[in-house]
Amino acid sequence: MARRQVSARERQVLDAASRLLPGGSNGNTVTMDTIIASGRGPRVWDMSGNEYVDYALGSGPMLIGHAHPEVVAAVEAQLSKGTTYFALNEHMVLLAEEIARAVPCAEKVRFASSGTEATFFAMRAARAYRGRDKILKFEGGFHGMNDYGLMSMSPGEPLDFPAPTPDALGIPESVEGDMLVAPFNDIETVAAIIERHHDELGGVIVEPLQRIIPPKPGFLEGLRDVTRQYGVPLIFDEIVTGFRFAYGGAQEYYGVTPDLCALGKAVAGGFPLSAIAGRADIMDYFAPGAHGEKHVMQEGTLNGNPVAAVAGLATLQVLREEGAYERLFETGARLMGSLRELLYQAEMPAQVVGEPPMFDVVFIDHAVGDYRDTLDRDQAKLLRFNELLRERGVFKNNSKYYVSTVHGDSEVEETVAAWRSALGEL
Ligand SMILES: Cc1ncc(COP(=O)(O)O)c(C=O)c1O
Repeated sequence: MARRQVSARERQVLDAASRLLPGGSNGNTVTMDTIIASGRGPRVWDMSGNEYVDYALGSGPMLIGHAHPEVVAAVEAQLSKGTTYFALNEHMVLLAEEIARAVPCAEKVRFASSGTEATFFAMRAARAYRGRDKILKFEGGFHGMNDYGLMSMSPGEPLDFPAPTPDALGIPESVEGDMLVAPFNDIETVAAIIERHHDELGGVIVEPLQRIIPPKPGFLEGLRDVTRQYGVPLIFDEIVTGFRFAYGGAQEYYGVTPDLCALGKAVAGGFPLSAIAGRADIMDYFAPGAHGEKHVMQEGTLNGNPVAAVAGLATLQVLREEGAYERLFETGARLMGSLRELLYQAEMPAQVVGEPPMFDVVFIDHAVGDYRDTLDRDQAKLLRFNELLRERGVFKNNSKYYVSTVHGDSEVEETVAAWRSALGEL
């Protein structure tokens, strides 16, 4: 199959990017050799006019597809009324109301602008409520780019649990003293760490499905039991899973209700908005005067801005339409099944890991239940596979296929053909 054509104009922009942006990128590293120019429904186009079936979905927000007419109309109607006021607006309050209706743990809601901020503020609120500093996170768990989330997110040489290790430069050493790290899907080890350290713990944060690794039966339930036993707030990072695994998120899908959660991506319909939601008695620490002189400060210039709020409300309305989640799960299951079959036919050691709305292949010859299980995967092979797929008109994140409610038969057929051809070359 021919390599994609790159126009002179796209080449110029790529050259400018490599001159001006460190590493030639904005930090978001799907690919540094393509400039995306537009998106509609389940597809995107680059500056040279090449078309792709899109499984990046903007790293998840575009759950109902790009430029959905109802989202576009809602945003256009808001734009001429102004884009931000630094004051309450009706749409943010309606969005809070809808989140409280949908998400089991959400009694009260606060808005921020990114997932990184939402997890950061959820941890801060938990610490304030508990009056203790340490946060337990899981090895390999991703909570955005705040200093706490970047502890043991992808350690090359993991330490013995519960010692954390920073994954990035520029993180103060002191943060190591504020974090404990545990293995995902191993409730005995987690419970032992919590029992030993409960008196120092401000909270526990977990992705209910860690990256693409589903929780083993009983893991989230066990985590709920042990955190409740010691009165430690349990935070679900639902930036990815919120409104995606079910209208009520992973907490509805897996049937386990945390004390707090962080929401982002789909809830904002592709605009910068995130939310912290949860138990009223913890959320009230955000309110000045509710707990003495000080409160949990959480200001932000664009927090809950009306453009993002109307985009979120329009997206949620589309997700409430009959059959939206059935379609999403059916398409995802078809894709996962086809990919497994093709890998089997190609006699390639690999696992297809995830849930239908979100999955990927891991080139490995054994099952994957936690971060350490992935350490001997063939990541170079995955990156090459992704590259071969881009040449064949399939665009995705490095380690994830996000499926939308508007991927249909033609997208599935084109994707399966691209997989078959790319695996042939791989
Ligand atoms: C589970 C999870 N938490 C937090 C974040 C951070 O969100 P943002 O990129 O909006 O800061 C992400 C982003 O991918 C995520 O996947």
